[in-house]
Amino acid sequence: MLATAGSAIGLGNIWKLPYMIGVNGGSAFVIIFIASIIFLAIPLMMTEIMLGRRGQKNPLDAMKSLAKEANVSSLWSWVGGMGMLAGVLILSFYSVVGGWVLSYVLSAVQGVFSNISAEQAANNFNNLLAQPLTLLMWHSIFLLMTMVIVARGVSEGLEKANNILIPLLFAILLVLLGYSMSVGDMSAAFTFMFSPDFSKVTSVAILSALGHAFFTLSLGMGAVMVYGSYLGKNESIGQTTLFIAILDTALGLLTGLAIYALVFANQLEPGAGPGLIFQTLPIALGSMPAGNLFATLFFVLVGFAAWTSSISLIEPAVAWVIENTKLSRIMASIILGLTVWLIGVSVVLSFNEWQDIKIAFGLGIFDSLDKLTSTVMLPLGGLLMAIFAGYLMKKQHIAEELGLHGWAFTFWKVTNTIIAPVAVIIVFLNLLGVFEKLF
Ligand code: PFF
Repeated sequence: MLATAGSAIGLGNIWKLPYMIGVNGGSAFVIIFIASIIFLAIPLMMTEIMLGRRGQKNPLDAMKSLAKEANVSSLWSWVGGMGMLAGVLILSFYSVVGGWVLSYVLSAVQGVFSNISAEQAANNFNNLLAQPLTLLMWHSIFLLMTMVIVARGVSEGLEKANNILIPLLFAILLVLLGYSMSVGDMSAAFTFMFSPDFSKVTSVAILSALGHAFFTLSLGMGAVMVYGSYLGKNESIGQTTLFIAILDTALGLLTGLAIYALVFANQLEPGAGPGLIFQTLPIALGSMPAGNLFATLFFVLVGFAAWTSSISLIEPAVAWVIENTKLSRIMASIILGLTVWLIGVSVVLSFNEWQDIKIAFGLGIFDSLDKLTSTVMLPLGGLLMAIFAGYLMKKQHIAEELGLHGWAFTFWKVTNTIIAPVAVIIVFLNLLGVFEKLF
């Protein structure tokens, strides 16, 4: 359970959710996001943990043996295969952003944020992005930190550290929130995030909110499946899932409130994009009493949360390679690490030298990788897992694993057989413009 929480809690909560809220118009996005967590992500997380615990292998081979047990085509194993690919692609930009966090740890130690103005904070971040070699160095360090742990197969120690570090991150966020409340405009932040404005609901916002529900809980790519395979037979899948989902969502939303209180008090742009936390939080951190110490602690904890998530992004692929080839864990980690590093180089360059290169739909390299994984691969992976568990697995096997009864089982069944498939398919079709053509 700690490992799964470590995978779920990461940059998705502190970095991504806050800026996605701003880019997608505020409350409309938040409401769809929360609904996606309740009606899609929670039931699908139970499914993914269950598939992992029953499959007992890496995602691809776990799906293969489950398909055999259910007497259906072994092509289902490719759900696991697609997930592993998604993990490699996500890590290639996740590691670059993890690198930003590490560079902010150094800035905090050096006292760069002391009494920083909003303009200076924005300039600092933009200067960082403009330096490919610096970004590359931090990306390399972050990825190396990840791959060393994966290569040695010793993530257990890190996960134990979660026991202390996640509550500490939570506590520090609460202090930050309190401080933002006193220097920032909390009521504007609250209105922006929670007062419903459905005029802003676009199909892109819906797909992004749904995609982020998968991203933040690490769903649809087999990470949770791998950890599910380690979960003891007597642990309750339902309780584990609920606990992690509530903690994870609360962390993200609290960070959002702390940030938007600062955004509105300093006349900043809510839709600033991926740099949002790096441009706003230093303002509060730099003006607090004992600010440098606090800022250092904050970025160290965010870096730690990112580290445990990044391990889970690459572990499924590493597990598959060592279970299916003659390569050792160390060799598998080196080869996959280099692959991720190389793709990451193109992500680094997309913030400066290659800024004008567009790949698909007018999106740059970073955005294309992010959108392809979060809004296509993860929801598709989740959809296929839901269909597999909801329609193809034997009811008795599901009941054995999930241990849900009464309304809870009905909720799981309805969400996996009807709500999840219908919602994901409608959103996909809508995005493809199929609906406009039909009506
Ligand atoms: N859930 C992680 C976060 O919110 O930062 C990101 C992530 C980790 C996504 C592992 C997917 C995954 F398999």
